[in-house]
Amino acid sequence: MTGGTLSRRQALAGAAGGLGIALAGAAGADPAPPSPSLQALARSKGMRFGSAIAAGPQGSRPEGGTIDNPAYAAVVARECGLLVPENEMKMQALRPDPATFDFRRADRLMAFAADHALDVRGHNLLWHNTRWLPAWVNDFDFGSRPATAAEKLLTTHVDTVCRHFGTRIKSWDVVNETIDPATGAMRDTVLTRHLGDRVIDIVFHAARQALPDCQLVYNDYVEWEAGNETHRAGVLKLLERLRRDGVPVDALGLQSHIGGDSDLTGPAGAPQEAAWRRFLEEATGMGLDLLCTEFDINDRAFPGDPARRDAVSADYTRAYFDLTLSFPQVQDVLAWGMVDRFSWLNGRAPRPDGLPRRPCPYDRDDQPKPMRAAIAAAIQAAPPRSAPHAPHI
Ligand code: XIL
Repeated sequence: MTGGTLSRRQALAGAAGGLGIALAGAAGADPAPPSPSLQALARSKGMRFGSAIAAGPQGSRPEGGTIDNPAYAAVVARECGLLVPENEMKMQALRPDPATFDFRRADRLMAFAADHALDVRGHNLLWHNTRWLPAWVNDFDFGSRPATAAEKLLTTHVDTVCRHFGTRIKSWDVVNETIDPATGAMRDTVLTRHLGDRVIDIVFHAARQALPDCQLVYNDYVEWEAGNETHRAGVLKLLERLRRDGVPVDALGLQSHIGGDSDLTGPAGAPQEAAWRRFLEEATGMGLDLLCTEFDINDRAFPGDPARRDAVSADYTRAYFDLTLSFPQVQDVLAWGMVDRFSWLNGRAPRPDGLPRRPCPYDRDDQPKPMRAAIAAAIQAAPPRSAPHAPHI
């Protein structure tokens, strides 16, 4: 797609919006972008719609789903009211070494958001998993008073990062994925070795101190399909413990990577609607808000034919959001990327037939798929949110 085509589309969308005319299907023209946008639909319900976007090359995906790709940036800017940086605010990205904070990429993303009047969620202050901590943290010399040194490392990081972005960020994923899905227990890291479970408390308290009005989120890939039972129970146990101990957690982020790495078509991948509803009831019963932070669908085992695959994914999307958005505590819905060709899932286990993945609301040519319509329909069917739940939104 060329930049020229895009601007024409945007112009058409603007004109259509103003006149209330549907332009889709004009002979010889590219189809007009769907209108209203997902963000407009979400806003009419007191919600926000957003997506992950990157700033700069993404490891094995040099072209990435980035602000530098005009076609991708246009889809995101048109459909979203909210962004989340795919990698740029993670400790691995911001902290090349113990002495350095490198905010350049994250700041480019913030500037893109400001230029397009988009909000930004912070992701994340601590991805509490050895695999995703910077190597220098895993190898850190904690010295003769290791608990003090570990606490200092964490509070310095959280304080510096929170204050750098300040009140421009009104919602942070403070801790990401600290529960091991296999056991339901806290993951062991070099930090728990010195601080035990207090790692989590320290990070939340530091975030609250730096940003008193920010929504502080615990974010994890607890999903609704079978196989997530231990993970869900473990996350609830952690949240109960945090509540009991007065740790300032405001919301639970439901990553919503539907299917995870499993086979969604097998019995082990079946949605557990009743258990999911109970899980959300228990979380909201603790007074927590909810967010869908990283929606996409693992279409690994879905039919190869694109039209059939898209139909199955759209049904799945609709069912998931119909149930999940029936909870008015969900105010933000974010996709983990808008366009198939940039999805992080392309770098995960391939489909057995080798066909490209279709995990996102838009296809490889930046055209909306039935999944996009399913999200729109679920938002339209959702009960309106009367008022923001917490003072931070
Ligand atoms: C992923 C990114 O999409 C990849 O580019 C990166 O290599 C690894 O992280 N859960 C999360 C996200 O909370 O931060 C992850 O993002 C996807 C799973």
